[in-house]
Amino acid sequence: MQTNGNTVLVTGGATGIGFALAKAFVNAGNKVLICGRRRAKLEEAKQKLPQIQVRQCDLSKKEDRESLYNWVKDQYEDLNILVNNAGIQRAIDIRKGAADLLRGEDEVQVNFVAPIHLSACFAPLLMDKKDAAIINVSSGLAFVPIAAMPVYCATKAGIHIFSVSLRHQLTGTSVRVFEIVPPAVDTELGRGSTRHSEREYRGIPPSEVATETMEALKNNEYEIVVGGAKGLVEGSRKAFERKFQELNSW
Ligand SMILES: NC(=O)c1ccc[n+]([C@@H]2O[C@H](COP(=O)([O-])OP(=O)(O)OC[C@H]3O[C@@H](n4cnc5c(N)ncnc54)[C@H](OP(=O)(O)O)[C@@H]3O)[C@@H](O)[C@H]2O)c1
Repeated sequence: MQTNGNTVLVTGGATGIGFALAKAFVNAGNKVLICGRRRAKLEEAKQKLPQIQVRQCDLSKKEDRESLYNWVKDQYEDLNILVNNAGIQRAIDIRKGAADLLRGEDEVQVNFVAPIHLSACFAPLLMDKKDAAIINVSSGLAFVPIAAMPVYCATKAGIHIFSVSLRHQLTGTSVRVFEIVPPAVDTELGRGSTRHSEREYRGIPPSEVATETMEALKNNEYEIVVGGAKGLVEGSRKAFERKFQELNSW
């Protein structure tokens, strides 16, 4: 698809991979909107990229997701790309009972429910455009999980399957469904809940994810598996494609 002249919403676009994507879209000649919870981070992003529009919202809340959609529909009706990037990551020990699960933020709402709800809200608006896309950010951990982050990995596996289904369901419309599958990337993700030493390997820079994504969009490569995530994806899926075609051939 065209990587210029679009209007793009990047959720969680003030930091990390989302900010790198926002910057890449701006540099390629697109109008970019971002959202997130922390006003200070949104302002920082706006200072670095004055062309972007920002919106404060908490995507774990249904009302905030609806008001984000209404804001876009009323003020940026030309939106044709939704990037479901916002996410959180927690280490959760199920052996400790429900207390450990419930003491922090709800990964299911942010990582799983929000992208699905936003896709559904925006689909009719996107289908009105000649060329449009939904871009979901999953993870290499959707394919091979890390046991210390069981809910995170489950939400990402869910987003992968949702993306595959949605791509199939939207075939024949103007909306293409892309999935970015990053490896470990050096961002703030999970830093609050897991212990990392300063010298530990933190992953590739977010800009690498953005560069590969822009190239893949140009070439209509719907599954954008970045760097080290390739080994996880390939290793996990030998018979999947054939079975999927069988299930969906009627
Ligand atoms: N870093 C990695 O190694 C890695 C690997 C694979 C996949 N990913 C995925 O990449 C995506 C981006 O993560 P990142 O690594 O770039 O981390 P990040 O810098 O922490 O970015 C996450 C963004 O999501 C926003 N966000 C979180 N909860 C939100 C909520 N309830 N409502 C609205 N915005 C919310 C955050 O802003 P606020 O806190 O201000 O709301 C932040 O800007 C995530 O989906 C993550 O799972 C990351």
